[in-house]
Amino acid sequence: MSAPQIRESGPPVVAVVGGGQLARMMAPAAGELGIRLRVLVEDPASSAAQVVTDAPVGAAADEAAIRSLIAPDSGPAASVLTFEHEHVPNALLTDLIEHGTPVRPGPHALVQAQDKIVMRQRLTELGVPCPRWAPLPSSSPQAGREALAAFLAEVGGSTVVKTSRGGYDGKGVRVVSSPDDVADWFAAVDAGGPQLLVEEKVPFTRELAALVARRPSGEVRAWPVVESIQRDGVCSEVIAPAPGLSAELDVRAREIATAVAEGLDVTGVLAVEMFEVPGLDGTPTVLVNELAMRPHNSGHWTIDGAVTSQFEQHLRAVLDLPLGSTEPTAPWTVMANVLGSELDELTDALPGVLAAYPEARVNLYGKGVRPGRKLGHVNVSGTDLDEVRSRAVAAAALLRGEEPVIVDTTIEERANV
Ligand SMILES: Nc1ncnc2c1ncn2[C@@H]1O[C@H](COP(=O)(O)OP(=O)(O)O)[C@@H](O)[C@H]1O
Ligand SMILES: [Mg+2]
Repeated sequence: MSAPQIRESGPPVVAVVGGGQLARMMAPAAGELGIRLRVLVEDPASSAAQVVTDAPVGAAADEAAIRSLIAPDSGPAASVLTFEHEHVPNALLTDLIEHGTPVRPGPHALVQAQDKIVMRQRLTELGVPCPRWAPLPSSSPQAGREALAAFLAEVGGSTVVKTSRGGYDGKGVRVVSSPDDVADWFAAVDAGGPQLLVEEKVPFTRELAALVARRPSGEVRAWPVVESIQRDGVCSEVIAPAPGLSAELDVRAREIATAVAEGLDVTGVLAVEMFEVPGLDGTPTVLVNELAMRPHNSGHWTIDGAVTSQFEQHLRAVLDLPLGSTEPTAPWTVMANVLGSELDELTDALPGVLAAYPEARVNLYGKGVRPGRKLGHVNVSGTDLDEVRSRAVAAAALLRGEEPVIVDTTIEERANV
């Protein structure tokens, strides 16, 4: 990869597109390594803009904004461009690479995380186990309905229909047992919306995620495979490592994620969401659900529960620096998301939550409260999974403004009650 056009002396500058919590959580890691971050934020009040001093305002699709993020009128040029979300125009990225700016992950990889049809086709080519699936033709609503009806007849029961682009947190995913269930989506496709695909509804026992990081020179490191618990299509808890996961399946899931990172030439962090399903002989196996090419909610536990956090690893990887150890620092870490809150201001809950759970690692994103919105998370690590989990969940509940619950007390504490 050639060097960027203008490279002044001084620490490397990592340019990040997107001003949400993922960019925000890169900031502490950048500070520790002495790396500078420059983040393109949608809004001057966005989550990342509150903690990153170099945060120009602009849209991810605005070519001029991206160009000046990399080479501003004043200040050093960026060493590399990376992302906290996948919604960036690929033609622009290709042009930037041609003009000497490293873009990591590159657009040829990123497209697999932008479009679920492209992703499924490519994963199928790579021999990665996936749910049965089919693209639904977009030539007319009738053609789409017929293809869906044929798929329903083939797999029997319910299916899951997805929009190929633009979905997140379960928006763009619907369980469907008749073409009528997605009549509105066929109409949206007809009006020029993104194409649809259908998948078998996988009878999974649980959802897993395998997180890896890969640098351009080829080094790959994987964290232990985690269990991710979704509520209403949104991740609500992550348990690291996945309880009861056999060593074989942990290795297998990491191998799949590594093969995907290598096969798609991903640089930076790659999250591979998976379904755990009983195999033919009853032994659990995995099918790949989807990919994210950036730090991911399933990796927030690494901030407090692994030697190297996913945010630091992402920065190392995109700068082609040696990757850090992915070893866990405790037997168990549980991450509980704070999804929405009864409070107007989450920091109002800090006195209570910090007093009740001194071991909890609270991470608030500085976002305005809206129902179901990801506002923060809590990590708790320890040796007793039940206790770790109940304390993480209870601390997150306090931040949602729910009544305090006494989850666990030691015998000594009980004696004092
Ligand atoms: N084929 C499927 N079978 C069963 N459940 C599914 C399937 N696809 C998705 N889901 C459920 O919907 C959730 C969201 O789907 P996903 O494709 O990951 O979309 P998003 O981009 O919104 O995260 C998954 O985490 C899983 O709980
Ligand atoms: Mg998902």
